[in-house]
Amino acid sequence: MSGPSTHVVTGATGYTGKYITRLLLERGDAVRTLTGHPDRPSPFGNRVSRHEFDFEQPERMLDALRGADTLFNTYWVRFNYGNRTYERAVANTKCLFEAAREAGVRRIVHVSIANPSADSPFPYYRGKAELERFLGCLGIPHAIVRPAVIFGDEDILINNMAWCLRHFPFFGVPGDGTYRMQPVFVEDMARHCVDAAGREGNETFDACGPEIFTFDEWLRAIAKTVGVRARLVHLPKKLAYWTSKIVGWIVGDVILTWDEVGGLSSGLLESREPPRGTTRLTDWLAAHAKNAGGSYASEVARHFR
Ligand SMILES: NC(=O)c1ccc[n+]([C@@H]2O[C@H](COP(=O)([O-])OP(=O)(O)OC[C@H]3O[C@@H](n4cnc5c(N)ncnc54)[C@H](OP(=O)(O)O)[C@@H]3O)[C@@H](O)[C@H]2O)c1
Repeated sequence: MSGPSTHVVTGATGYTGKYITRLLLERGDAVRTLTGHPDRPSPFGNRVSRHEFDFEQPERMLDALRGADTLFNTYWVRFNYGNRTYERAVANTKCLFEAAREAGVRRIVHVSIANPSADSPFPYYRGKAELERFLGCLGIPHAIVRPAVIFGDEDILINNMAWCLRHFPFFGVPGDGTYRMQPVFVEDMARHCVDAAGREGNETFDACGPEIFTFDEWLRAIAKTVGVRARLVHLPKKLAYWTSKIVGWIVGDVILTWDEVGGLSSGLLESREPPRGTTRLTDWLAAHAKNAGGSYASEVARHFR
């Protein structure tokens, strides 16, 4: 990109969107955000104008989108909760993409997931595949960025695994724990998105980091960092899932979804491409995660309260 531009980032006060926004502002670009939480405290103060998602009246999102160079889309739901379902998230995202086209946005950078598939048994992966297909037909140049799992300071996953490792006598691992995960650092992920905005044409690529762990290795690395013993018990997948549901009821959250169990244990959290991210989870854990799991971080509280 040449010269300062204006961009729209979904969820600039969320997780990935925050880091994309930070990079764009550091380059001198202007950012507007579309969010479900326009009143949430923002680390960017007045530097980022806030607009509310309105999928029922998409014309209300045009003000945010008009004049924007790139729409960075992170919007998605991790699990079905009330009327916020994967199905609705697919319909809402299509609505957002169409609004971007009507507003004349030059490019869309869309965050998807590694290994989406139209015939996946998992609605999360099917929904992501459907959005990639839709974007391909939309007629706006686009980049599709596919992380498998993202880590960073606001991370819920690692924090809550650390919390479980600290608070329970054992950790119920779905299946044999030998399936692999290839995490990407959130700042690397943001850089891939911002770099992709500056290119032309259409592209799709995985955004994964340099290290690959089995699920057991991942848990042991977290346990070692926080100074507890990893007492891993391998359970049938359904039993591990229901155990996580029971803990979820106690803490008022959704800890692990069936799609996540399926994605994990089917090897979908590993890329088939050379890694693009350079930050190693083990280095980050050593430097940042000593206090991880001190308190539980609720995904439901973050998005629904
Ligand atoms: N986090 C990971 O490990 C991971 C792994 C693979 C793929 N991804 C993909 O990366 C993208 C960004 O993920 P993230 O973890 O960075 O997400 P996030 O910041 O927590 O949320 C991204 C956007 O989606 C909205 N959103 C999230 N859950 C919602 C819900 N239940 N109802 C309504 N709106 C909701 C947020 O709304 P607000 O603006 O109101 O916060 C925000 O605008 C997603 O497309 C996700 O599928 C993430």
